[in-house]
Amino acid sequence: MKDNTRLLHGYNVIDEYTGAASIPIYQTSTFHNSELYCKKQKYQYSRFSNPTIDALEDGFRCLEKSKYAVSFSSGMAAITTSLMLLEAGNHVIFPLEVYGGTCQFSNAILPDFAIERSYIDMANLEEVKNSIKENTRMIYIETPSNPLLKICDIDEIIKIAKDHNLLTVVDNTFMTSLAQEPLKLGADIVVESVSKFINGHSDVIAGLAATNDQEIYEKLKLYQKNFGAIVGVEDAWLILRGMKTMGIRLKESVKNAQEIAELLDKHPKVKNVYYPGLKTHPGHEVHFKQATNGGAVLSFELYNEEDMKEFLRRLEIPILAVSLGGVESIISHPASMSHACLSCEERKKQGVTDCLLRLSCGIEDIEDLIADFENALDF
Ligand SMILES: Cc1ncc(COP(=O)(O)O)c(C=O)c1O
Repeated sequence: MKDNTRLLHGYNVIDEYTGAASIPIYQTSTFHNSELYCKKQKYQYSRFSNPTIDALEDGFRCLEKSKYAVSFSSGMAAITTSLMLLEAGNHVIFPLEVYGGTCQFSNAILPDFAIERSYIDMANLEEVKNSIKENTRMIYIETPSNPLLKICDIDEIIKIAKDHNLLTVVDNTFMTSLAQEPLKLGADIVVESVSKFINGHSDVIAGLAATNDQEIYEKLKLYQKNFGAIVGVEDAWLILRGMKTMGIRLKESVKNAQEIAELLDKHPKVKNVYYPGLKTHPGHEVHFKQATNGGAVLSFELYNEEDMKEFLRRLEIPILAVSLGGVESIISHPASMSHACLSCEERKKQGVTDCLLRLSCGIEDIEDLIADFENALDF
């Protein structure tokens, strides 16, 4: 089945108890036992399992083409739960530009569990090899990076990891598994913020972890149950609905991103454009080796802060907000939003200047987006 058909018919889309064409919201915390010591009872308590959540995880398996998938209350819950596979004394390697929340967790919380971390330039494979130590247990990959869309080679990094018997976790939030399939390349775990493109409507916070390894799955499931970071049933229902149109939403968003990136790239008021769909992007070739399109997110830099502020004042269609992956275009200012928790020095090191803006393209008509961007830059 191709993607759009798979997302509509490739998993449990009909409720097995009632035949409902939309999986019902099983809004219950607990389930009546038909008798004492009833071994056949499938559901006991909704933190352990629930029919709506089961349907969602079935959908995630279909989306990720994975043997197993676990849903979480947020992308961060999926990420931190996967990092809990590490043990005291282990070392984990992150990309320098890892998502801010993951970075904060790594700096503020992992040391309490005696877990060592390194942050490296993951586009540099020599640096990846050289940063592996005797106690290294995991390489954590994120490509394209946020917000500068830096690319690293998933396939080559997984090969290095396998040579050293290391686990690989890939944050695939920006591309989703419709466009980039790390599990196919041998990654152990894919994590995604479902709050973004998968749900797609800026109305839910959720996450997923997918794997083909039964042992990893059983651990993640145990942690999910015991940490209790489960997704609520109403959110699960919204995600199930959003996921059905994910393919067509992403197709339109990616088309829009390519056109806006090309427009900005030619504009004299724009200093830099970061978008892997542009042939001039330094990671273009590696990106298209592992992904089928340039994605729906791009960043760009104006020449000074005054220009950047004036541009934002004039721009009418995109909402100015943290987050990405909605049906509506979302523009954000990383220095004061997603990367505000970093010091000025750290931001500078990553190239996140005060004049940088990140755009997540929605599915608006491209003519309207182009007119809006042209007008906002015309001052
Ligand atoms: C790349 C990436 N990973 C993870 C997350 C965290 O996801 P959530 O906000 O659903 O916890 C985000 C959120 O912006 C993200 O951009």
